[in-house]
Amino acid sequence: MGSLNINGQAVAVQVEPDMPLLWVLRCELGMTGTKFGCGVGICGACTVHLNDKPFLSCQISMSDLNTQKITTIEGLQGAEAQALKAAWIDLDVVQCGYCQSAQLMAACALLKEKPHPTDADIDAAMSHIVCRCGTYPRVRAAIHQAAKRRPA
Ligand code: FES
Ligand code: FES
Repeated sequence: MGSLNINGQAVAVQVEPDMPLLWVLRCELGMTGTKFGCGVGICGACTVHLNDKPFLSCQISMSDLNTQKITTIEGLQGAEAQALKAAWIDLDVVQCGYCQSAQLMAACALLKEKPHPTDADIDAAMSHIVCRCGTYPRVRAAIHQAAKRRPA
């Protein structure tokens, strides 16, 4: 039995200590917004925030989490998230959608760190997330739009 700090709430879970966070989220808690892609840290689909920084949830086990702050796509809020979601809709970014939770999580962390990112900043922050549909140009455009229209 353990407890995790997810989206601002203490959540009780009963899992093996070596279970990766991704499995805890999806299989134990039914939080399926975070996606399983490769399970070995190379596709980026499982990106969440750990202490407000992007982190691959397939790469950390229950026993290493303790009370660290976890944010998932279900709990993504704030001015940056709002601006990004609006831009995503405006520019019709999504294709199949599979990678898009991860794209939004990474983009939100980027805008918090760099309110007006350059193309190089975007590439550095986002290039680890594989999009099989090739939405990269629209993701980039949406991040720029969100940066311009983000509420103060
Ligand atoms: S599922 Fe975690 S990086 Fe691919
Ligand atoms: S939108 Fe299909 S994998 Fe990215």
